[in-house]
Amino acid sequence: MNDKIEYDNQIVRMFVICILLWGVVAMLMGIIVAFQMIFPSWNFHPWLSFGRLRPIHTNGIIFGFTGSAIFATIYYSVPRLLKTPLWSSSMARVHFWLYNLTIVLAALSLMAGYTQSKEYAELEWPIDILVVVWWLLLAINFFMTMKNRTEKHIYVAVWFFVATIITVAVLYLVNNLAIPVGLTKSYSIYSGVVDANIHWWYGHNAVAFFLTTPLLAMMYYYLPKHTRLPIFSHRISIVHFWSLIFIYIWAGPHHLLYSPTPNWLQTVGMLFSLMLIAPSWGGMLNGFLTLTQAKEKIKTDATLKFILVSLTFYGMSTLEGPIMAIREVNSLSHFTDWTIAHVHAGGLGWVHGICAAAVYYLVPRLWNTNLHSEKLAETHFWVSTVGILLYVVSMWVSGVAEGLMWRAVDASGSLQYPSWVEIVNELFPYRLVRALGGVLFLSGFVIMVVNIIKTTKTAGSGFNPVDLREGSKA
Ligand code: HEM
Ligand code: HEM
Repeated sequence: MNDKIEYDNQIVRMFVICILLWGVVAMLMGIIVAFQMIFPSWNFHPWLSFGRLRPIHTNGIIFGFTGSAIFATIYYSVPRLLKTPLWSSSMARVHFWLYNLTIVLAALSLMAGYTQSKEYAELEWPIDILVVVWWLLLAINFFMTMKNRTEKHIYVAVWFFVATIITVAVLYLVNNLAIPVGLTKSYSIYSGVVDANIHWWYGHNAVAFFLTTPLLAMMYYYLPKHTRLPIFSHRISIVHFWSLIFIYIWAGPHHLLYSPTPNWLQTVGMLFSLMLIAPSWGGMLNGFLTLTQAKEKIKTDATLKFILVSLTFYGMSTLEGPIMAIREVNSLSHFTDWTIAHVHAGGLGWVHGICAAAVYYLVPRLWNTNLHSEKLAETHFWVSTVGILLYVVSMWVSGVAEGLMWRAVDASGSLQYPSWVEIVNELFPYRLVRALGGVLFLSGFVIMVVNIIKTTKTAGSGFNPVDLREGSKA
């Protein structure tokens, strides 16, 4: 690191606080909707009903919690990797405030019932325009910082951020094209099957370019920085980067199997999904093989444990996803809790794991002090891991049971469970376990928040990182 360069740590600190704040809010929403699914009486007011709180959970966790972790990492790592100060600190601050304004407006408008009715793109057009403005500010700042770089080599983490910034802009603009008929209502410019295809091209790639590529960038940054070891293979990182971004963009139609979407397009979606196993596992293995260089230290280091579990869930969900994209499997999994298990293996396991590692890496460095308690970080790890397992396993069982009950027929060929409510009642215990798993998971997260608040109380007292390389003293 070049000592002469002054890095803007304040903007990173601001986004780190948002990771914690929006994380707690969005997970709390997840818990409320989980309980509303088993206790319908919890839907006591339209503003607080399942249909309105669910998109607050999904938008809050994806764009609020994960988004804050992505932006904190971009503003921290990119200037350091490219050995140049951030191009504009004031632009980053405008980005920060407009971004947070968006989150507040999003929550209020969704609670009031205003929605475009497109999943992960529910926000109405005035808020969409706000998003475009701050995304553009981020993009300009990012690319100008790249232009001013004094480091010739562009590390793979920066490549992943480039892909994120460009692709999300294209997806967001195309999917949200709409004709406003008032301040709070608009109609998509697409209709019917075209609308559905554009929507799931966006929806699937929101997963790819918001919950995967920037998280891979974070893995490629924090893992070697934290262990002070090189990544296992730069060659694999480049090969899997190009193949991942090329293949991902075609897989969207797997969300529309057995729909009026043309059959050939569904097959394209299915085949590209299967092909995605290779680059996804390339990235996972590169992470695992980097971790093995510090395997003894995993026992004592919570950050490494989070990365280990995170990569494990990344591997699992990127194997499960392609399997679910096979038509015959999808005919069982679609519309059931199996999809929810898959989503949360990715969300709670992969996404949260890398974000937690980011927080534990950044906070001591940004506040120049040691982490208040490594033991609390360890407790966070175990509590949240048990929470994830309760969540994901209960949803797998519930999902498969649900799918099988829907299609079960008796000897006469009639449906064995003609009443949908009967099936919902059968799923009660699994959904209760899921909700309790969520409570445990959030408890783990709150332990991290307390640990971080206590850490910031000793700001400036000096940070002495532990040497995690094999053979070094722990
Ligand atoms: C190789 C990678 C992956 C493939 C091929 C894949 C495939 C799939 C499939 C087939 C579905 C079910 C679609 C349906 O029946 O409607 C699905 C749903 C979903 N997946 Fe994945 N998945 C992958 C990785 C991931 C990861 C890593 C995450 C999270 C970080 C994730 C998040 C989601 C979400 C949020 C949904 C639900 C979408 C919705 O209906 O709202 N996926 N995925
Ligand atoms: C305390 C933790 C959490 C709880 C209790 C929780 C709970 C829920 C519930 C109950 C649903 C609605 C399920 C349904 O409609 O059947 C849901 C949906 C969803 N959650 Fe979570 N969640 C949590 C954390 C997360 C995290 C960390 C992520 C991602 C980073 C995430 C991403 C999503 C997504 C994308 C959906 C929509 C899935 C779909 O439409 O198929 N959640 N969550």
